[in-house]
Amino acid sequence: MQHHARTTPEDRTVTSASENDATKVSLEPDPGMSSSTWRMRSDAWEYLLFAIKRLVTSHDPESTYVADTELHRSLRSLETIEMYWAGGGTEYVQSIRRLLEAGEYKAALDRVARVVTRQRGDQPTTNETFEDAADESERLMTSDDGDPRPRFEVLVIDEMSPDEIESVIKSVHRMRSAADAFIYEFVIVPSAEDAIAAILTNPNILACVVRPGFSDKTRLPLSKDLQDTIALASESVTSWTPPRSKLAHIQRVVGLADTLASLRPELDLYLMAGAHIEDLARFLTRRFRRVFRREDRLELHLSLLRRVSHLYDTPFFTAIQDHARRPVGVFHALPIARGGSVIASKWIRDLADFYGLNLLLAETSATSGGLDSLLAPVGTLKKAQDLAARAYGAKHTFFVTNGTSTANKIVHQALTGPGDIVMVDRNCHKSHHHAFVLTGAKPAYLEAYPLDEFAFYGAVPLSRIKEMLLKYRAAGRLDEVRMITLTNCTFDGIVYDPERVMAECLAIKPDLVFLWDEAWFAFATFHPVTRRRTAMAAAKSLEGKLASNELESAYAEQQKILFNEDGTPAPDEVWLKEKLIPASDSKIRVYATQSTHKTLTALRQGSMIHVYDSEWKYEAEDAFHEAYMTHTSTSPNYQILASLDIGRRQVELEGFALVQRQLDLATSLTHSIARHPLLRRTFRVLTANELISKELRGTGRPLPHRDGLSAMWKAWENDEFVVDPSRITIEISRTGIDGDTFKHDYLMDRYGIQINKTSRNTVLFMTNIGTSRSAIAYLLEVLVKVAERIDEHYQGSNIPAGGVDQDLPPLPDFSEFAAEFSEDRSLPDGDMRTAFFRGQKRSEVDYVNPAELAERVAKGEQPVSAGFVTPYPPGFPVLVPGQVITAEVLNFMAVLDTREIHGFDSVRGYRIFKDNTASDDPKALKAGTTEDHPKLPRRKK
Ligand SMILES: Cc1ncc(COP(=O)(O)O)c(C=O)c1O
Repeated sequence: MQHHARTTPEDRTVTSASENDATKVSLEPDPGMSSSTWRMRSDAWEYLLFAIKRLVTSHDPESTYVADTELHRSLRSLETIEMYWAGGGTEYVQSIRRLLEAGEYKAALDRVARVVTRQRGDQPTTNETFEDAADESERLMTSDDGDPRPRFEVLVIDEMSPDEIESVIKSVHRMRSAADAFIYEFVIVPSAEDAIAAILTNPNILACVVRPGFSDKTRLPLSKDLQDTIALASESVTSWTPPRSKLAHIQRVVGLADTLASLRPELDLYLMAGAHIEDLARFLTRRFRRVFRREDRLELHLSLLRRVSHLYDTPFFTAIQDHARRPVGVFHALPIARGGSVIASKWIRDLADFYGLNLLLAETSATSGGLDSLLAPVGTLKKAQDLAARAYGAKHTFFVTNGTSTANKIVHQALTGPGDIVMVDRNCHKSHHHAFVLTGAKPAYLEAYPLDEFAFYGAVPLSRIKEMLLKYRAAGRLDEVRMITLTNCTFDGIVYDPERVMAECLAIKPDLVFLWDEAWFAFATFHPVTRRRTAMAAAKSLEGKLASNELESAYAEQQKILFNEDGTPAPDEVWLKEKLIPASDSKIRVYATQSTHKTLTALRQGSMIHVYDSEWKYEAEDAFHEAYMTHTSTSPNYQILASLDIGRRQVELEGFALVQRQLDLATSLTHSIARHPLLRRTFRVLTANELISKELRGTGRPLPHRDGLSAMWKAWENDEFVVDPSRITIEISRTGIDGDTFKHDYLMDRYGIQINKTSRNTVLFMTNIGTSRSAIAYLLEVLVKVAERIDEHYQGSNIPAGGVDQDLPPLPDFSEFAAEFSEDRSLPDGDMRTAFFRGQKRSEVDYVNPAELAERVAKGEQPVSAGFVTPYPPGFPVLVPGQVITAEVLNFMAVLDTREIHGFDSVRGYRIFKDNTASDDPKALKAGTTEDHPKLPRRKK
C-alpha cells in the first residue's frame, strides 16, 4: 500500500495571487535540507514522467534530453534507491536509461508510467501482461499490476548471484495463490548495511529473511546521512557474545537481527540457513520467528502471509461487522440499535442518510449479549487490547472511551490515594489536577521552564525533579512520594527523555511510579527515532539495562561518590551533578496514557492506557480494575472501540510510512517558511533555539530533523529535551495581530484553516498522519496571502519590530499552598482535595473583584483561592484550590485577553476563602473533608 502524495513537478511550487518572485514558495528540498528517501523517490519518478513526456512531444528530444540535468540526477538517484524497493530494482532504472539513450522515448515513458501508477496506487491503464514483458526487470515490475490485494515487501539479506536472485523471485511468484489474502514481493540486498538502509527507507517492508551468507558493507554510494544513521543504529545495539566460540559466526547474525528489531520492532524476522540449522535454532529462536532450511520455501511463504494476516486481524471490528449483519430483534434499552427509532421516523431519517445505516446496525451493548464487554472483556475486546499492547510495546493495554481526560483519572486512582504525594508539572492537563481532588493525593507542583517571550511553558528540567526528590529525602518524607507525572510531549511539542528521567529518579527512590501523559505522542511509537522517547520503549530499555552487568558495576562505582564513608549521602550538588544510575532491583512501574484520537486513526475520545509495571500482579492489577470500573461508562461507545482496533491495524502495517511522511512534510513546511523572503520577514518559526533553554539543548541543533535522520537521531539520543518536528510554532508578533485573532479571523474564517492552539503571539500548526503535501502547500499559500496583506498594511518596510507581546508580564510560578492545606510549607505539596470541597460551600467563600483583590494583596494580605482558575490559553490553572493568590498571578490575569477563563466570574470576580479567623462557628471547621484543618486566617506578609 503506497502513500505517496500525488504531485507533479508543477504542483511543487505554490504561487501566490500576485505571482511575483518573492511570493513563490518552493516545496523542493534545497541542497541544505536532507530530504527523506520516500520523497526523493516519489519526486524522482514523477519528474521522470514529466520530463520524458516532454521528450515525447519535443521537436528536438535529443538535445532536450542531454540538457535536462534534473532528469539525469533523478536517474542516478533511482539507480541507488530502487535497490531497496521491490519491483524492477536498479536494473529497471538502467533499462529506462538505455531506452532514453537509444531515443526510444515512448518505450521509456511507458516504463516510467508503470512505476508512477503503482506509486499512486492507481489501476494500470496498459493491458500488457506479464508475458508481454520485454525483460526480467519489466516482468517483475508488471507481474501483479492491477491486483487489488494489499501488497507488502519482504527483505532478503544475502549475497546472491543474478541467477539466484531471479530464481528466488520466480519461486515467490510460483507460490502465489488466488486464495492468498495479500501479495508480497522480495527486496534482495547483499549486506547488513544495505539491510539497515532498506528498512529505514522503505516502510513497505514488513518482514526480513536473513541468510547467513550476507556481507557487512554496502557497495552503493549512500548519502552521508544514511551512512551515519546506519552507524548509529548498529552502535546502539549492545553486542552479544555467543556462549561457545565455535558459534562465533552466529554473532553477526544476532547483531544484525538485534539492529533490525531495534529500528522496526514490528518487523517479522526469519532465518534461512543450510548448515548447522539445529545449532542456530537453539540460540536464535528468541530473535527470529522461525528458522528455516533453504528448501522450506513454501513454509516461509505461508509464515509470511500468516503473520501479516495476524497484523491485519481486527477482532473487535470484525465482531461488530458480524453483529451488524446478524438479524436480531431488540428488546433492550437501545432504541437506536438496528435503526429502529430512526428508520421508522418521519422526522429524523436524515441521521441514517448522513451516517449510513451501518452505524445504527452496529449499535449494541454488552448486556444485550451481542459483543464482548469493556468492563470485563474476555473475548474480542480482550484480544483487541492485547494486540494493541503488542503494537505499542506495552505489557497490558486498556481502551478508554472518554479520552485521556478519563485515562489519567483511572491511572491516578489506581496508583495513588489520600496522603500520597504526586510530583506533577503544574502545566499539565486539567484531568491531573482533578484527579487530586478525586484521590486525595497531594500534588507537589513542579515548575516547567517558562518561555515568557511566547507566553507558554516548556517542560520540567530533570534537575528540578531531582532537587525536589532530594528535598523530600532531606525532610524524611521521601516515602510519601509515590508517583511522578509529566506530559510527554507537551502541547507545544517539547519532548522529554523518559528513560533518563526515570533512571535518575529511581536512583533516588527505587519504587517510584511514573505516569507519562502521552496525549499528543501516540504516533511516536511508529518511527525508529521518536520511539525511543515513548514511555513504553523507555521502560523496556531501562528494564534491559537494569539486568545488565555493566549497570551493576557502574552503579557500584557511583555509590562511592554519592555516599560518604559513614553512609550518609553526599551533598545534593553531587547528586545533581551526577547522571544517577539506579540500582538493579529498582522497580519498573510505568504507565502511559494516549489520546489515540489526537494523532492516529480513532474516533474522538478513543484513548489507550499502556502499562509496563513489574508490580502489576501484586500491587496494581486489582486497584487498576476498580479504578477502571469507576470511570468507565456501563454503556461504552462500541464505534470508538472498533476504531481503536482498526487504528491499531493501521499503525502496525503502515505506521512507519505515515509518521515518516508526516515528519518530512512538517519539516518541509518549516523550511519553506524560513526560506521565503516575505514569510521570513513576517513570521518566525520557533526552533529548539527558542523553545529549549540553552543549557538543556545538548547538541544545539535548531531543527535536527531538517539536517537529516542521523542529526535527529543524535539529538533524540543525547539532548535533555528535543522538539517534536511534527509541530510548528510560529511567532507572529510582527503581524501586530494576537494569536487568537490570527486563528479565528485570519485562518479559520477567511481560509478555513483550523488550528488548535495559540498564545498571545504564537500559533501552533500541528501536522498529523493525514496531512498531505497539498494541505501543506495550501497552508503556505494562505500564509503568503496573509503576509502580503500585512505587508501592504505596513507598506512594505514598516512591519513593526516589536509587536503584541511587549506588555506581557512573566508567566506566574505556582505560589504555594496556604498553611491550612500544607503539612510543611518548606515543601510544595498541599491537600488540594480538602481545599476543593471546602471551596464548594457557599458559606465558606467570598467573591472579590480583581481590583479590590489586587489592593488587598498590595496591602500584604494573602487571599487563598477557593477553586481552579484556568484561562484558555494557556490552558492550565493559574490558581488551584488552596493556593495563595499573589500579585504575579493577578498581574498576569489582568492583561490576559482570552475568550475563556474557567473558574473566574467576570461579574463577581475571584472566588476566595472567607476570612474565618474571627469565626467561632464550629461548622466552619467541618466544611472540608479533613476534620482537623485549622481555621483559615488571611496572613500578613
Ligand atoms: C496533555 C493532555 N493530556 C490529556 C488531555 C485530554 O485528552 P482527551 O481530549 O483525549 O480527553 C489533553 C487534551 O488536550 C492534553 O493536552
